Amino acid sequence: MTSAPPRRQVLAGAAALALSACHERPAVAQAPAPAPAVRLREISPIPLGNCVMTDQIADPAYAELLLRHFSQITPEWEMKMEAILRDDGTYDFTAADAIAAFAQSRALRLHATTLVWYSQDPKAFHPLDGDRSRMGSAYRNYIQAVAGRYRGRAAGWDVVNEPVSEEGGGYRDCIWRRNFGMDYVRMAFEHAREADPHAILFLNDYNLEYKPAKLDSYQRLLEGLLKAGAPVTGLGTQTHLAADIDPAQAGRAIRELSRFGLPIHVSEVDISIRQVARRLPGGPALLDLQARTVEAVVAAYLDLPPAQRYALTFWGLRDKDSWLRRPPYDGDGSDRPLLFDDSGAPKPAFTALAKALQA
Ligand code: G3I
Repeated sequence: MTSAPPRRQVLAGAAALALSACHERPAVAQAPAPAPAVRLREISPIPLGNCVMTDQIADPAYAELLLRHFSQITPEWEMKMEAILRDDGTYDFTAADAIAAFAQSRALRLHATTLVWYSQDPKAFHPLDGDRSRMGSAYRNYIQAVAGRYRGRAAGWDVVNEPVSEEGGGYRDCIWRRNFGMDYVRMAFEHAREADPHAILFLNDYNLEYKPAKLDSYQRLLEGLLKAGAPVTGLGTQTHLAADIDPAQAGRAIRELSRFGLPIHVSEVDISIRQVARRLPGGPALLDLQARTVEAVVAAYLDLPPAQRYALTFWGLRDKDSWLRRPPYDGDGSDRPLLFDDSGAPKPAFTALAKALQA
């Protein structure tokens, strides 16, 4: 069983490992790959999503591949505070609106992320830090302005992202918790619901497959929220995995969270092979392990009742689009965590996904 050390630490550490033996990069630019016959979105019994950025959807080759296989999109970062909230407290919705317009014009379902996240600590809030009343008004105003803007267009929101401490057993410190205590989570869901009466409102976190204590703390937080009447109506498990995860472990969070009877979003799937290469000999075996992991996640997801299958979202289209290929994780650019290679050609993980979706 793979126990994944903290993701950012591992990825940064792995970046130091030269893995050229496993992933020789092509000497010449690869020609665009022929489109695979199957269109995932036509064979899938569940909504399949991917994350996008404005400069990606402006690329016709990218858009064609995305629209061929996926029926849902999540803005990778341009609907977060870092993109919307300027230092002077004014809002810039330019990029977020462009992604929402792309979704609407292509009849794609839009999942939005994220209203509140410990790691987004915008300067605009700093002068209010410690003034609970003024901070409370600004917190509410932000959430309602953003969630309200996409009312009727966002099928779901990650309302609070990654509230649980990395090792579980507690919750992350952040400006919101310093001002409101852990009630910041309930407040965020209430404000989002006031702004959008219909969107499914998600609690989202990661490493729930690897860290039982973290999954326990996620569930304890959720139970408290539901008991307090907070409108948590969806559960997100990001599912950033390493290719050598025990297949039984890959679907653990999906299975454990199903007991709440709420829609579950497998929200940010990627399956790193760079982390694994140092543990196993490289080459095709790593891509086969990756394919096996995709099958395990999909099998667990398809075991859910249909009403709980919100969507399965990959966190990037082609390997080169992955955040794991960008600083600070880029290292040697060797990771290949997604369904399509750098040229857009389907990998064994794509074939495994198509097979698992039709099982
Ligand atoms: O595109 C701009 C570029 O024009 C500019 O020069 C550069 C420097 O400012 O920034 C670039 O934008 C960056 C963007 O990624 C695209 O690379 C943003 O600064 C950077 O903050 C953004 O990081 C995103 C990160 O969340 C923080 O929002 C990653 O793309 C995104 O993959 C990552 O996604 C998170 C999920 O939201 C939560 N779960 C973990 C996951 C991975 O960390």
